[in-house]
Amino acid sequence: MKKDQLILGIETSCDETAAAVIKNGKEIVSNVVASQIESHKRFGGVVPEIASRHHVEQITLVLEEALSQAGIGYEDLDAVAVTEGPGLVGALLIGVNAAKAVAFAHGLPLVGVHHIAGHIYANRLIEEIHYPALSLVVSGGHTELVLVEAPGVFKVIGETRDDAAGEAYDKVARTLNMPYPGGPHIDRLAHEGSPTLDLPRAWLEGSYDFSFSGLKSAVINTLHNAEQRGETIEPADLAASFQASVIEVLVTKTVKAAKEYGVEQVLLAGGVAANKGLRTALTEAFTELPDVQLVIPPLSLCTDNAAMIGAAGSVLFEKGRVSDLSMNGNPGLDIETM
Ligand code: KG4
Ligand code: ZN
Repeated sequence: MKKDQLILGIETSCDETAAAVIKNGKEIVSNVVASQIESHKRFGGVVPEIASRHHVEQITLVLEEALSQAGIGYEDLDAVAVTEGPGLVGALLIGVNAAKAVAFAHGLPLVGVHHIAGHIYANRLIEEIHYPALSLVVSGGHTELVLVEAPGVFKVIGETRDDAAGEAYDKVARTLNMPYPGGPHIDRLAHEGSPTLDLPRAWLEGSYDFSFSGLKSAVINTLHNAEQRGETIEPADLAASFQASVIEVLVTKTVKAAKEYGVEQVLLAGGVAANKGLRTALTEAFTELPDVQLVIPPLSLCTDNAAMIGAAGSVLFEKGRVSDLSMNGNPGLDIETM
């Protein structure tokens, strides 16, 4: 009988220190996430220096916890996978050095993983992937449509030209005096209002690219203009209108690309995939396309975690894509050439 493959995943690219053990690339044995959100909240966003310090403090504890919850020791592992990039360089370095230390000390192969490949392969933890698949990646730093042509082979067919969707959510939330990260707050508020305000949609015809900075400015201008006229705008209606604009563009482009590329599956990925409005709208849109399976990960696998890094790491490990100990954190890592 073939022995189970056990991979340790490590993620420290932004503000979560995370470690997980993944069995055979698709089963979560343990999944530990230490969030730093409380420490960054009062600054209204992630402070890189503070993020690095927290990662240093947490990484050993989080690794020990992931192994202890899995009931295994380092000697039981087959490989160590870690987020190599993109992300905050000082934050990435903590995870990469921890992974290198574990790999060196225990003679394990080291696998560098692209953070977005991780978000995409979070879907493998709930569903077998069928290729070619299309992934809508919506996070705090990225908004992309990625074609997954074969295991570990990615082609970006569209990306944001300015702000990422999550970034727009966070900035609009800040304008409405909501705490960081603002996405979940806007999502909640949007459900209490109606999309009565006319906000722009950047279609960028003929391309699968996105743009959200015009929408963000339109929200801010709408608020300021109303203030100057002494009028009040219902924040819930503003949130609902903003969310309607973001979702309409994301869903329309995803459906169009799924048809054009003839994919079997659409995989939702990234922190904004936790958005209830987006999940509902995509589900409705894909009922019209019964030949395409829509996969939506549970909320805990949408925001940053290490289980997704272990899942993607397993795919790369099986392809023999291992790194050596000269690996470094790479904030500019490219998903197509990694
Ligand atoms: O993927 P992620 O955890 O970190 C990055 O790799 O960027 O994404 C974080 C982003 C934040 O901008 C946060 O506001 C957004 O995901 N987010 C949401 C929701 N939950 C998290 N945005 C909209 N609606 C949500 N429910
Ligand atoms: Zn992420």
